[in-house]
Amino acid sequence: MKIAVAKGDGIGPEIMEAVIGIFDAAKIPLTYEVVDMGKWVFDKGFSNGMTPEAKQTIEDLGILFKGPMETPKGKGVKSVNVTARKTWNTYANDRKFQTLSGVDTVFSKAGVNIDLTIVRENIEDTYGGVEHMLTQDVAVARRYITRGGSEQVIRYAFEMAKKKGARRITCGHKANIMKLTDGLFLEVFNEIAKEYPELKADDIIVDDLCMKLVSRPDLFDVIVLTNLQGDIVSDLCAGLVGGLGFAPSSNIGDHISIFEAVHGTAPDIAGKNIANPTSLLLSGLSMLRHLGLMEQAVMVENALLFTLESGIHTGDFGDKSIPSVNTTVFAQAIIDNFGQKPKNNPRPALPNFDFIPADCSLTSNPMLAYKSTDKHTVVGVDFFIESTEQPTVIADICGKHVTDKIKLVTITNRGTQVWPTGSIFTNLVNQYYCRFETVNNAPLSQDEIIQLYSALAKDCTICSLELLNMWADKKGYSLAQGQ
Ligand code: NAI
Repeated sequence: MKIAVAKGDGIGPEIMEAVIGIFDAAKIPLTYEVVDMGKWVFDKGFSNGMTPEAKQTIEDLGILFKGPMETPKGKGVKSVNVTARKTWNTYANDRKFQTLSGVDTVFSKAGVNIDLTIVRENIEDTYGGVEHMLTQDVAVARRYITRGGSEQVIRYAFEMAKKKGARRITCGHKANIMKLTDGLFLEVFNEIAKEYPELKADDIIVDDLCMKLVSRPDLFDVIVLTNLQGDIVSDLCAGLVGGLGFAPSSNIGDHISIFEAVHGTAPDIAGKNIANPTSLLLSGLSMLRHLGLMEQAVMVENALLFTLESGIHTGDFGDKSIPSVNTTVFAQAIIDNFGQKPKNNPRPALPNFDFIPADCSLTSNPMLAYKSTDKHTVVGVDFFIESTEQPTVIADICGKHVTDKIKLVTITNRGTQVWPTGSIFTNLVNQYYCRFETVNNAPLSQDEIIQLYSALAKDCTICSLELLNMWADKKGYSLAQGQ
């Protein structure tokens, strides 16, 4: 089987050489096509950090094994790591966190065994980078949570939990505050949970989750989260097992999957042959499992665990009373320990399975849309206006445009209601939203919305608008704080 390999920048080539050396010594049946991605590709003028040939090779082969890559600062270019994950829709970021003998943590010292998997949604949320300045003082970001995107990652998490024989699958969220966005993610989780009655599925508010993870991490098994919350919680979990150097990362999609170390390019130690290849090796082992090479993955992982348990370590971790070894010696020690198993938590033998490559010959972009029969109506508009006037002045301006059909319901500043009721203690910024709703949810046409916009724009500066949608009797918008 052939896979694409991008060595990366900084320590990338050193740790990739170490890992591929271990794979070759273990006779892993893979061949590698090296592709050009990373800093020097940006420097040559490719603004997405990869050559067209690299993109084509990865799309043909479907698997990318990559070292860390540097995004040039201040050149207005986007991270090649994020571009790769998003372009190829690797919607599930699967990160495993396990207690490793030889890697001391407060939990390992207390005899608490950690075996956690975080599945983080990888495409949506505020990571779309859809941001605007509404006024010079007010920046907003769109937070995309979609039914289709949530379903892809949550279904992946359930399937993975089932295969792993998980004790529990938990949805982390903040649906108590973000009722529509996190609410949709939780709704999809609860719908999919019904298809897996054999799994104990529950949910937890993300702040409570963080508190429980740092006090009783052993209570959790598989946790699925939206992108930003998952980003933060997964690094928290890395800290529980010894840091980013011990946490593999897989970015799984239906067609293309990416396996990478989660740490950066470590420019301070690049070229010195002292970097720790463990994170990249663990990610490579996740890749072998993904490709059905279970026996080989277990054999190499047990050799790695035995090596760690015996106290051999690179300079960044381990018992300081034992001298550290360099990258090459560390990798050779793992090879020398092939066939050995650690005393604590050896990985159990698992049979190989046939990997069925995904069909990569798409002719159009997949559309994740659902057909709904619910009747759709627009029942109002939120106009975002720029003003440094007091709320009563804004209410007077908007009040001029109230008709028999359209009423002014609320005026808010930063989401907090300041009219018709509010508090003198609410601080204001120079941007309000003013909510116009129809009487008895009468439908509002596009023409009526344009007329209202034109009329209001004569009296104030409109900086944005949002339609108030309803599907059947379900409102597609949230109430203002205090409304
Ligand atoms: P970093 O992870 O490269 O380094 C942080 C610290 O950890 C440094 O002291 C470094 O020496 C140490 N370190 C990291 N990996 C190590 C390893 N394998 N062995 C031993 N020590 C290790 O983070 P930093 O300095 O914030 O970022 C450096 C560059 O890496 C930036 O250009 C950043 O954009 C890029 N980066 C790339 C990522 C990726 O490709 N997935 C992820 C994070 C950062």
